[in-house]
Amino acid sequence: MVIRLDKYLCDMQAGTRSAVKDIIRKKRVTINGEVITRPEIKVDIDKDVVAVDNNVLGYSEYEYYMLNKPAGVVSAVSDKDFKTVVELITDNKRKDLFPVGRLDKDTEGFLLLTDDGETAHRLLAPGKHVEKKYYLHVVAKGSIDNKYIDEFKNGLVVDKDFTAMPAKLEILQYNNQDDTTFLNITIQEGKFHQIKRMFKAAGSEVLYLKRLSMGKLQLDETLEPGKFRPLTGSEIDLLKSWN
Ligand code: URA
Repeated sequence: MVIRLDKYLCDMQAGTRSAVKDIIRKKRVTINGEVITRPEIKVDIDKDVVAVDNNVLGYSEYEYYMLNKPAGVVSAVSDKDFKTVVELITDNKRKDLFPVGRLDKDTEGFLLLTDDGETAHRLLAPGKHVEKKYYLHVVAKGSIDNKYIDEFKNGLVVDKDFTAMPAKLEILQYNNQDDTTFLNITIQEGKFHQIKRMFKAAGSEVLYLKRLSMGKLQLDETLEPGKFRPLTGSEIDLLKSWN
């Protein structure tokens, strides 16, 4: 793809349109090592090497980040009361990142943020037949036994308007000191408060929730809560081939 040099620099947050024109006129910008002084010069984003003050800028059409969402932060672009997941991404070049789907304020774990609206829509839109599998770690109140496994597998009736698609429970450990069960769950849809509502309907309560994966993408366990990293090239390929 070929775009104007000033647009390229704006997209990469080198400055506002007028600021980047100024940078270009001051001979601070090179394309393939050659000083360029005209903002309208065309850049081939796949081939040309653009640098400002000798620092090479890599162009990417969109940005994709994986965040290990901490508890206490809301899955929104802006919020008047609470810190948002977008505010945690501090090295973004674009200003238009948004979270792909939501985790509750008290839920931790894998969250994808991007400015690629088309891919986000493809992944989330109902009826798009994108296989939506979410894998989460849960701490639930009480002893979660085989009865729950069967109920969740058979499609739990949550309320009169919602019967969940079959979900898979893996019981990890029952802790009799505080009467809690550690388990993992795989669900196939991402309805509002889905897991909390499912456990409540089944007679328990979710005490802790952490999403470990979304479709083919897994949380990088080296990311501490609140930390993020850009997706790798192969993770972006997985995202795009996820259908
Ligand atoms: N289910 C919930 O109840 N909450 C989440 O944040 C994610 C899934």
